[in-house]
Amino acid sequence: MTVLVTGGAGYLGSVLSLVLLEAGYHVRVIDNLLYGGRGLLPVMGHSRFEFYAADILDHDAVERATGGVDAVIHLAAIVGDPACARDPTLARAVNEEGSAHVIAAARSAGVKRFVFTSTCSNYGRMADVSVLATEAHDLRPLSLYAETKVAIERGLLALPQSPTAFTVLRLATLFGLSPRMRFDLTVNQFVMEMSVRRKVTVYGEQFWRPYVHVRDATRAIVAVLAAPGDSVAGRVFNVGHTDENYRKVDLIEIISRRVPGAEVEFVSMAEDPRDYRVSFDRIRSVLAYSTTRSVADGVEEMATALEAGVLGGVDDPAFSNTPGGAGVTSTAVSRQVVCAL
Ligand SMILES: NC(=O)c1ccc[n+]([C@@H]2O[C@H](COP(=O)([O-])OP(=O)(O)OC[C@H]3O[C@@H](n4cnc5c(N)ncnc54)[C@H](O)[C@@H]3O)[C@@H](O)[C@H]2O)c1
Repeated sequence: MTVLVTGGAGYLGSVLSLVLLEAGYHVRVIDNLLYGGRGLLPVMGHSRFEFYAADILDHDAVERATGGVDAVIHLAAIVGDPACARDPTLARAVNEEGSAHVIAAARSAGVKRFVFTSTCSNYGRMADVSVLATEAHDLRPLSLYAETKVAIERGLLALPQSPTAFTVLRLATLFGLSPRMRFDLTVNQFVMEMSVRRKVTVYGEQFWRPYVHVRDATRAIVAVLAAPGDSVAGRVFNVGHTDENYRKVDLIEIISRRVPGAEVEFVSMAEDPRDYRVSFDRIRSVLAYSTTRSVADGVEEMATALEAGVLGGVDDPAFSNTPGGAGVTSTAVSRQVVCAL
């Protein structure tokens, strides 16, 4: 089975490519290497791996990449509220038009399975966080990033589920080590700051969110690919574990046990668009899926890697989706897309 992974050089995609190869799949990645290509080093040269260095806004390249594949895992996007806010035009183009290209090309090539990675932040600020959001909960996108994710979710769930069956995975916020490391994700950032800088500033410590290890997110994608079509076609699954909803203050407590003695400054905020607790019962009951690594496990692996110096300089701009100040990245990013168009 050949799987096309869009955005396969990214934080999630680079782990996914490796996991799919380990599981015996042929893997093709299309990525424009917005944050560099180091994420692909562990898979380049593998006999079942192919790389298309191209932009999903390039219609012809997307058509070529979808030819002959059995499944598409669509990850490529401008990811995160800050990255989308920095260049809203690019974010809309990539996340909406780019996704539309990938969806149309998959359907016309007769690709059987299509997995779209959406986000639990689509639930927005919940009125009552004692209630867990299920997949049926109202979506309240409160950022451009979530808006683009909700627009694509709605579009593909309204399509006929043949020849291509679509599955939406609303991932919790990811953490853990990846060949394309990101230190702009909450758990990763807190571990890095507490262990390297010995100081962290926490904005809005009382707000809830769910978290899932990057490897467990890839296991959910593999579970969808392996499931009978009628159990996943046209369906949405939250990806994570119900016990792994935390307030930021809880994360600090967990990290402090492994990395004691860092200075923690709490800055109160009246509200945060990301205040939600999520139920992960559906994926457990339909796909018999459960996570294998807790936030505490992720903290252990990252603290160990940071202490050993495995990640090198943590200020490397490739470790963030908003590196080096708005102007610089915005210009660099826009130039790449103009070239690709
Ligand atoms: N990281 C999280 O916490 C999280 C949570 C929920 C959902 N998701 C979703 O998972 C997916 C992967 O996220 P990630 O954390 O790996 O992000 P990432 O930014 O590390 O990866 C995105 C990849 O897409 C590529 N890309 C961007 N624009 C492109 C374009 N126009 N053409 C081709 N490639 C392009 C980038 O080069 C990058 O390799 C995204 O769809 C994201 O919305 C992530």
